[in-house]
Amino acid sequence: MTARAQSLGGDVTGETPVDQLSGREARGELERLAQEIAAANAAYHTRDAPEMSDAAYDALKQRNQAIEARFPHLKRDDSPSEQVGAAPAEGFGKIRHAVRMLSLSNAFDEGDLREFDESVRRYLGVEATIAYTAEPKIDGLSLSLRYESGALVSAATRGDGETGENVTANAREVDDIPERIEGAPGVLEVRGEVYMSHADFEALNVRQAERGGKTFANPRNAAAGSLRQLDATITRDRPLRFFAYGWGEVSAPLAETQMGAIARLESLGFRTNPLTRLCAGLDEMLAHYHAIEEQRATLGYDIDGVVYKVDDLALQKRLGFRSTTPRWAIAHKFPAELAWTRLLAIDIQVGRTGALSPVARLQPVTVGGVVVSNATLHNEDYIAGRSNTGEEIRGGKDIRVGDWVQVYRAGDVIPKVADVDLGKRPEGAEPFVFPDHCPECGSAAIREEGDAVRRCTGGLVCPAQAVEKLKHFVSRKAFDIEGLGAKQVEQFYRDGWIREPADIFHLQERYGEGMQQLRNREGWGEKSARNLFEAIEEKRRIPFERVLFGLGIRHVGEVAARLIAQHYGTWDAFVAAMDEARVLEGPAWEDLLAIDGVGRVMAMSLVTAFAQEAERASIERLVRELEIEPAEPPVRAEGSPIAGKTLVFTGTMERMTRAEAKARAEALGAKVAGSVSARTDLVIAGPGAGSKAKKAMELGVETIDEDGWLGMIEGL
Ligand code: IVH
Repeated sequence: MTARAQSLGGDVTGETPVDQLSGREARGELERLAQEIAAANAAYHTRDAPEMSDAAYDALKQRNQAIEARFPHLKRDDSPSEQVGAAPAEGFGKIRHAVRMLSLSNAFDEGDLREFDESVRRYLGVEATIAYTAEPKIDGLSLSLRYESGALVSAATRGDGETGENVTANAREVDDIPERIEGAPGVLEVRGEVYMSHADFEALNVRQAERGGKTFANPRNAAAGSLRQLDATITRDRPLRFFAYGWGEVSAPLAETQMGAIARLESLGFRTNPLTRLCAGLDEMLAHYHAIEEQRATLGYDIDGVVYKVDDLALQKRLGFRSTTPRWAIAHKFPAELAWTRLLAIDIQVGRTGALSPVARLQPVTVGGVVVSNATLHNEDYIAGRSNTGEEIRGGKDIRVGDWVQVYRAGDVIPKVADVDLGKRPEGAEPFVFPDHCPECGSAAIREEGDAVRRCTGGLVCPAQAVEKLKHFVSRKAFDIEGLGAKQVEQFYRDGWIREPADIFHLQERYGEGMQQLRNREGWGEKSARNLFEAIEEKRRIPFERVLFGLGIRHVGEVAARLIAQHYGTWDAFVAAMDEARVLEGPAWEDLLAIDGVGRVMAMSLVTAFAQEAERASIERLVRELEIEPAEPPVRAEGSPIAGKTLVFTGTMERMTRAEAKARAEALGAKVAGSVSARTDLVIAGPGAGSKAKKAMELGVETIDEDGWLGMIEGL
């Protein structure tokens, strides 16, 4: 590392002047600079161990910029000039997906799959058998390839589903990804999975070990690590493969069925999975699942289940999406991987909501190719051998330190302790006593009725809760403050510099005086302090949903925060509604519950957070520091006549189920309420409509029938 730093410094001074560079030299120089700047960023931002002076770093950036100005066509996709102070993990440019990249909901057994098929038919109001495609679920990472007029123009990872990383240069190095395709629609986004075969993975690890480089735990990590390389020449040396299984934006439909579309992608030159079959109904789906499961070990690449998709694309369109998953597809996962090992200790972690979570510290063991040394034990009942409702689990066997335990992991989820072998229990092993006081702050830890989890009552007095809340606040999907990660938050909290989110915005005025204090710390130079304050300033103007998510209110995840923000539009309207909803009844409460994805538990958690004096005061101190951007209503279809309107459906719908009608209305930007009030804009009344239609008449609310409704949404 030190040697590299010295060579970087030397390069900066003894170079060919930019105006004397040839095109070929310039290309090489840009590649070198991109690498060197990325390495410097990694040292600086991630490891907090700068390896070059600020002046040397600035000189590299300036030279890069000067070369790009002279040779704009040679600017790289991973150009450092696009990465304003970016941390290495963010070294890729961002691409906003024209059509969101979603994930799949999971089925773990036949019952779940039956429920999926029934829900599809219920939603569509269809009794007949539905045809589904069934294909392996590849254990890799998804990629979206955009072709315009047949040429590959960009490639993006899934990212958060809305925005992914620009890995175009890397995708061009993958043999299975054609640069040009003939006979495709003008715009075609091909989606699929990048993966590495078992043989290539093993050979790569051998090569890496020989060179003293990083080895990978499994083919999936190897594929991800190889695709997400700032230096695409590294990707070139890594044998990645690609199966196409779907699409995003298309300027003309590929086919009328999923099977047809897959065949079309194949004819365009993409590899599609040879185990893709069309299945008429549940029995055929299950038969194909078992057939794939039997071949799993000999496929030569990792799969972790089977994906089923409604074959008829018109039905797929009608079924549409929930907030993060399609209604028309599901992943049927293979049973989890298992291993046995010794339980060395049980530690208690305190999370941001005060939950005391027991963590099993294990004798390291390989489970499905990954070394596991920690696993969750869920909660105290689970350790004791009871379910949350008091019934026996594991035949009532409790788990004790020293026990021989079975660990399992399914996909990416945290490994779990599943079972215990009483025959191997060491003599003298004692039942685990779950603490009734917080191990971090000593406050009482209590369980509320119906709650499986014991929680610390210390609130923000509890350092663990306060720190976890702050870490959540600065996390990527919340305030995402560059240079202020988990490590820095812990450091600043320990020093008493920040206790709550609002303090972050006072850091500069309190401690930035000459930046002496920050500068004197290990790992903080003047440049990093300056950058930090700038990054904080940048986040004073921030979208509503990020603020709401960042508060870390129990049950309010990123998706819910977005839906809530879109529903209320402005922060002030939202807070006023929370105050009004505090009585847990009336229009504001009903309105909150009517938001798709907001249930009673989340609604309670929200209004409670705003009703508690200390928490409210802390939120207000934060909000005073911010300019909160209003949220746009979630209208995806252009020209929707019902965007922002409140609709009520009543009576029987004959050509569309109620669920479909509600989902369509919401997708077009409307709110669907359960009862008619002065706030209702439109009532859709089918046969048998009673009191709601009457009330609409009395209030003079516009009322239409199902045909009117279908006419209104036709073509949208
Ligand atoms: S279809 C709307 N098909 O699984 C979502 N996904 O758990 C469409 N995956 O993000 C996804 N093999 O990365 C689909 N044959 C397959 C797949 C597959 C693997 C991945 C994909 C997705 C994840 C969801």
